Amino acid sequence: DFMRDVSGLIAMEKQLKSLLGISKVLVLPQDSDDIPAVKSNIGKEAARLLEAFFPQYKKIAVTGGSTMAAISKELSSDKRDSLLQFIAARGGLGEDVLHQANTIASSFAGKTGGSVKTLYLPDHLSEEAYEMMMREPVIKEMMDLYDQTDVVVHGIGNAEEIALQRQSSTEEVERIRSGGAVSEAFGYYFDKEGKVVYRIRTAGIQLEQVQKAPAILAIAGGRSKAKAILSYFRNAAPQTILITDEGAAQKILELT
Ligand code: BG6
Repeated sequence: DFMRDVSGLIAMEKQLKSLLGISKVLVLPQDSDDIPAVKSNIGKEAARLLEAFFPQYKKIAVTGGSTMAAISKELSSDKRDSLLQFIAARGGLGEDVLHQANTIASSFAGKTGGSVKTLYLPDHLSEEAYEMMMREPVIKEMMDLYDQTDVVVHGIGNAEEIALQRQSSTEEVERIRSGGAVSEAFGYYFDKEGKVVYRIRTAGIQLEQVQKAPAILAIAGGRSKAKAILSYFRNAAPQTILITDEGAAQKILELT
């Protein structure tokens, strides 16, 4: 911890904790926007925190994204536990297959010897299709699992970037823009006050289910995500742990 203290990271963690109203923040040195290895360091830290939960918590919901993929690379295979259950937080097929929640959940399970629950559904269902899907037993089973989730591990994205990357319809992009969305996490879009302004119509974990989970790890770094992180944490559950980097942390403190 000496090195972290010298570079002022511990002071930053303290400031962020009180600013965001949460109990734990980890800030890794440097900025993942400039140095890709920083994302791996974030992944490593997140993997260690998650592994520390394994003896106590078995049902773990995960989202997609490159930061989540970085965690999966760092999970240690000597923490294997066949009772672990990894649940894809969303059925969405709207993004690059390697970064989909389903892929990430499978790879977490592969690394840890746990089991996996996946759900493959289009990211943007029509209202009719959505209503019908929600009545399907497999989806109901998934919804029950979300209700029993012990840990949620998720990334945070910039709203507009995610909307475009998901090939959302122009109408959807317009609603996200006009709603003033700044951040996105597990299919929900939040404005700068942390209010939900839009949500993807597909089967997935509900905000209320995330917020009642005993443990939540939110993982996002890089100064380009500072505004998004701030927006998300305006309304995040107090038990959320943020794992980020110096680039994002510094920018968040500048913005506030
Ligand atoms: C998406 C997730 O894949 O990644 C989002 O569905 C998340 O929930 C976003 O916000 C963050 O991605 P990345 O690649 O920047 O970690």
